[in-house]
Amino acid sequence: MTTVSSTVPAHGNYHNYHGYLNHHPGACDARLSLLPRELLLGARVLDIGCNEGWVSCEIAQTWGAQRVVGVDIDDALVRMAWKRRRILWSHQQPIDDESPRGDEEDQPKKKRKRNGKDTQPLHKAVKADYFPASCQHMFGPLPVPPAEVVGSADEFPHNISFRRADWTNETIPEDAGGYDVVIAFSVSKWIHLNGGDDGLKRFFRRIYDVLSPGGTFVFEPQQWDSYTKARKLDPVLQENAKNLKLRPDSFDELLREIGFEGPQPLGEAGEGRFRRPVELYTKSN
Ligand SMILES: C[S@@+](CC[C@H](N)C(=O)[O-])C[C@H]1O[C@@H](n2cnc3c(N)ncnc32)[C@H](O)[C@@H]1O
Repeated sequence: MTTVSSTVPAHGNYHNYHGYLNHHPGACDARLSLLPRELLLGARVLDIGCNEGWVSCEIAQTWGAQRVVGVDIDDALVRMAWKRRRILWSHQQPIDDESPRGDEEDQPKKKRKRNGKDTQPLHKAVKADYFPASCQHMFGPLPVPPAEVVGSADEFPHNISFRRADWTNETIPEDAGGYDVVIAFSVSKWIHLNGGDDGLKRFFRRIYDVLSPGGTFVFEPQQWDSYTKARKLDPVLQENAKNLKLRPDSFDELLREIGFEGPQPLGEAGEGRFRRPVELYTKSN
């Protein structure tokens, strides 16, 4: 198992990363807002480098994904992600509260099965900030009831789980079933600096392999100039960086060699040095 230090974030394993990104609880991730609305609906999603679970939880709770798995190399971050799931559940509107909520955007959407025709039960649009944060602070998080009470195993909080793994080099049980969407937000630089060109190639190939035919890879690469600061964190990264031949502006070529189609650029999200492009790659049928 890879040893991960909590003092030097040599894998980009920053704690409170979403604090840096200026996200407040209940905020929507700007990168997810760039995605086609239907992409995550009814999808089996893998979020690689899930950190404290912000993106994974948002997808599971408000984007109608059937199943979300967040994986991170840092055990402490994975524990924070499980905690976040419970906190979000504690803020969510009670499931037996049928009161209408005006806005069309909030109305129930049908989950669809990826392979075509069938529709699943109606996906209930949730009001994620129904209870004020003070309730959870004063009384602690609510217990999570069994899936039958919530509605089904496809509903938040039962449609999400987290795993600790160095996903470039270790499989997780869910990989065997495949995914419709794999997300890699701000993680390729860390995989590249730690594993070298070979590690990065292995990472992309593994993503291709776990995607179902027609599946989508959602990618937010970090640019080469951002490697300079990152490599200074650790002498091993400094050394590894000297041998890197691949550059982020040639990742598209590499991904096409592996078999992906794309990229489809969706635009940029984030502020200042966190402003980065988000792109889609497709594994053809
Ligand atoms: C800079 S953070 C990005 C977090 C999140 N994806 C986002 O953009 O909001 C990078 C995350 O990737 C994780 N990570 C790095 N290498 C990894 C690996 N080989 N397998 C799994 N997670 C990894 C780190 O622990 C860290 O939480």
